[in-house]
Amino acid sequence: MDTHFEIESILKEKRVFKPDPAFARKANVSGAAAYNRLHKEADQNYQRFWARLAREQVSWFSPWKKVLDWKPPFAKWFVGAKTNVSYNCLDRHLEGENAWRRNKAAIIWQGEPEEDRRVLTYGDLHREVCKFANVLKSRGVKKGDRVVIYMPLVPELAIAMLACSRIGAVHSIIFGGFSAEAIRDRIDDAQAEIVITADGGWRRGSIVPLKQLVDKATEKSRQIRDVIVLRRTGQEILMKDGRDLWWHELMQEASPDCKPAKLDAEHPLFILYTSGSTGKPKGVLHTTGGYLVHVTVTSKYIFDLKEDDTYWCTADIGWITGHSYVVYGILSNGATSFMYEGAPNWPGPDRFWELIDRNQVSIFYTAPTAIRAFMKWGDHEVKKHSLASLRLLGTVGEPINPKAWMWYRRLIGKNRCPIVDTYWQTETGGIMISPLPGAVPTMPGSCTRPFPGIAYDVVNETGESVGPNEGGFLVVTRPWPGMLRGIYGDPARFKEEYWSKFPDKGIYFAGDGARRDRNGNFWVMGRVDDVMNVAGHRLSTMEIESALVSHPSVTEAAVVGRPHEIKGTGIAAFVTLESGADADAALKEALRQHVAKEIGPIARPDDLRFTDSLPKTRSGKIMRRLLRELAAGKLPVGDTTTLEDFSVLAELRESEES
Ligand code: WT7
Repeated sequence: MDTHFEIESILKEKRVFKPDPAFARKANVSGAAAYNRLHKEADQNYQRFWARLAREQVSWFSPWKKVLDWKPPFAKWFVGAKTNVSYNCLDRHLEGENAWRRNKAAIIWQGEPEEDRRVLTYGDLHREVCKFANVLKSRGVKKGDRVVIYMPLVPELAIAMLACSRIGAVHSIIFGGFSAEAIRDRIDDAQAEIVITADGGWRRGSIVPLKQLVDKATEKSRQIRDVIVLRRTGQEILMKDGRDLWWHELMQEASPDCKPAKLDAEHPLFILYTSGSTGKPKGVLHTTGGYLVHVTVTSKYIFDLKEDDTYWCTADIGWITGHSYVVYGILSNGATSFMYEGAPNWPGPDRFWELIDRNQVSIFYTAPTAIRAFMKWGDHEVKKHSLASLRLLGTVGEPINPKAWMWYRRLIGKNRCPIVDTYWQTETGGIMISPLPGAVPTMPGSCTRPFPGIAYDVVNETGESVGPNEGGFLVVTRPWPGMLRGIYGDPARFKEEYWSKFPDKGIYFAGDGARRDRNGNFWVMGRVDDVMNVAGHRLSTMEIESALVSHPSVTEAAVVGRPHEIKGTGIAAFVTLESGADADAALKEALRQHVAKEIGPIARPDDLRFTDSLPKTRSGKIMRRLLRELAAGKLPVGDTTTLEDFSVLAELRESEES
């Protein structure tokens, strides 16, 4: 981590938008009084608060003996209780007073090719999940086994997740944009024996060869017993004898009866890999009961979910946003989740708006990077469509710049829809800081207040709270139900990465800086560690550096973020070469491709510069702050007194990209 921690707040936003009274009247949390009551209840006793919501909004097979067992940094929520996530997302909508939901749309799915459209009712989804759960059982998958899923955004992805959760298998979904090398690392780390994939997926009119990448990833591995392959694109693929099985063939014989396993509240639900401050991806572990409570309650209050909503979150299910707010939190509420397989600009840049009108989407949740792209594609693309069905907008993934926020409000929300800017992380499981749309005034660029029951603070290097509008580290000071329970197989790293900055205090810190204004609103200012947020996705600088160094021509590499118009942060790489390597444009391109191959296209550097040496401190630490300033096109202004060799700086400036 950078030894220089300077956070300077530059935003001075004055615009405030109060909840519209008509919206507020009907909202699930209606008005300031109802909101303050929730906060008061939570502040009096946060465990009792979560326990009440857990009883009211989640179904349990047997109750807990204790709400929370907290031995920092290890938490257990709803100790001793039994439940099942797939039961909560499916069966309970087919019983009792909710039985009518059997014929309600659970998933409305649009593939990238126009003719690919499917609607699965809660009855349909229940049947498919039960059948696939039986398929998994018949293939020997047992409670606790890890199942790797590498699929396009199709209903079968949700079916596979829910089937795992039904029998207590632990899914680990890998985003379809990751490379074979990344898949291999994740399969190894999770010690998975089974992979679920598809022949391919559609992206901007071409096929992503998912199965081929799985084959490459598992070439040398004997660990993988079964690969279950969904036929999605219909293209020819190789099926390996004795290992590869077709989804549709297995489903033909499967029974539609499968009782949900009665699982302990702390039974692992999934592992999801994310970037940390070292090169190796970390398997963030989430468990059953607390996670389910967190995503169910936040979906209901923050997205104000109602029985007749059509809700669309544009995230890929391969990221945490998709896990929590395309699938689990939304289905647990019995709501309708719209899913779209393809890219936002295919076949045209107005694809999303056309889909909103056609499907009468009422709640729309997307990322600032997407909003900036829409702005660039032009207002006229939006104005071709009415968007009259929308009533609520959300954003997630990175701090949203006020200009994009205002555009989103005006062009998409027609000054009528509230915007919820939701701050959270893979590790938090669910949303942590966000307005409730019928109660909290919003400001462009602020995610406003922590959700009731959740305690955030902004602190200095020694862990003391800083004053209003002072920048500092954003920390959580008490456990919350959806919190990660660990890093898979690595408790030491779990402590080190999240709980060591302010040791022995049970304070969680995961890399963001923020300030809190006089009214208690939070303004997240971005990462303060060696992690970049590129287009709403977390990438570790070290991971990209080690990918670069794995190329035979490279001796050393340093990667930093730099401002980027659409992606928020772009990736700049400074590279020193082995003697004899030609520092030419061809090698530059080869190195960019190499990173894409090692990690995935999202990690491909935007700029790459060759240099004879990197600026280092006397102790050999690369001075990233200087590189960040250079990459941003600024002259380094900060302290350079610890720099070992001053000539490096001059040389780097000269190496500037033409
Ligand atoms: C990091 C987490 C949580 C789903 C998507 C990303 C940044 C996320 C916001 C927001 C400011 C945000 C933070 C955080 N971030 N949402 N509303 N305002 N920053 O999940 O990959 O785990 O990344 O994204 O820096 O630490 P993730």
